[in-house]
Amino acid sequence: MPIPPAKGVDLVQDILALKRQRNAVILAHNYQIKEIQEIADFVGDSLGLSYQAAATNADVIVFCGVHFMAETAKIVNPSKTVILPDVEAGCSLAESCPAEQLEAYLKAHADKNYYVIAYINCSAAVKALSDVICTSGNAVKIVDNAPADRNLLFVPDENLGSWVMEQTGRPMTLWKGSCYVHVEFTAAAIDKIREQYPGAPVIAHPECRKAVRLLADEVCSTEKMIGFCRDHPASSFIIVTEEGMLHRLRREIPGKTFIAGPTPACACAECRFMKLNTLEKLHHCLSTLQPEIILPEPVRARAELPLRRMMEWSK
Ligand code: 13P
Ligand code: SF4
Repeated sequence: MPIPPAKGVDLVQDILALKRQRNAVILAHNYQIKEIQEIADFVGDSLGLSYQAAATNADVIVFCGVHFMAETAKIVNPSKTVILPDVEAGCSLAESCPAEQLEAYLKAHADKNYYVIAYINCSAAVKALSDVICTSGNAVKIVDNAPADRNLLFVPDENLGSWVMEQTGRPMTLWKGSCYVHVEFTAAAIDKIREQYPGAPVIAHPECRKAVRLLADEVCSTEKMIGFCRDHPASSFIIVTEEGMLHRLRREIPGKTFIAGPTPACACAECRFMKLNTLEKLHHCLSTLQPEIILPEPVRARAELPLRRMMEWSK
């Protein structure tokens, strides 16, 4: 049971007081609920959050996102306490590539001598088996930089992987993983909403299927959506990604209208893992410093190499 704040004390004020007491920083992904985005020190995409985690002077990092993101913060900050509000906040994409399966695959295909490019949405153990990490914000750049004489294996997102292949012209073997949220969008559902808002550009995340990406005016990471919508002359946009992104867009670009991309079943798509974090759980984890991310040192140290390589290459 989450520890509630003292009687009569405002939850948000109590979180802020605990944050000061702990010398903590609150990092939040763009898919977090509005209330968490509003209380966070930094809200961003996986790439921005990795850089923020690497640069912080805080003693405690509270990661309001999913487990692999908090692990990433721990990989670059072994001596800091890294906590996340709900330890069950996982990721279907990370789950689709267990480290043991990747290890067995690499052994079985040793003749290919794969250069492994891992999308950041994977476990620390998978990162530890990889040569370089990428995010949706820098995947094209990272693949462009990969050694020209090596066969590339891209894990775990086949949709992001195929989009990167289209952008770079570089052949890659793709792991068969996907994000359960982004594959819910269909071309038919996007066509239908477009009929209602004919002038609104469609912006899709590269984790969407190809049929949806082909309909989009722009395919980009969540952070790049901000710049695209700010700079574009249109006043309304259809945003084809997890619905938390709309809070961020509405907050930062108040003069424009953002319409959630629908799925056949729903007016918008929600990630059930991202939505496990609440203000109450954030308060509880700052009070108890639990749940804490602990990584075996050999795994952490090995995973840091491809992560630092990514940071170096995407400067
Ligand atoms: P970005 O924040 O890198 O765009 O990725 C989206 C995502 O699905 C994170 O889980
Ligand atoms: Fe994972 Fe998809 Fe949720 Fe992102 S939106 S955390 S990729 S399940």
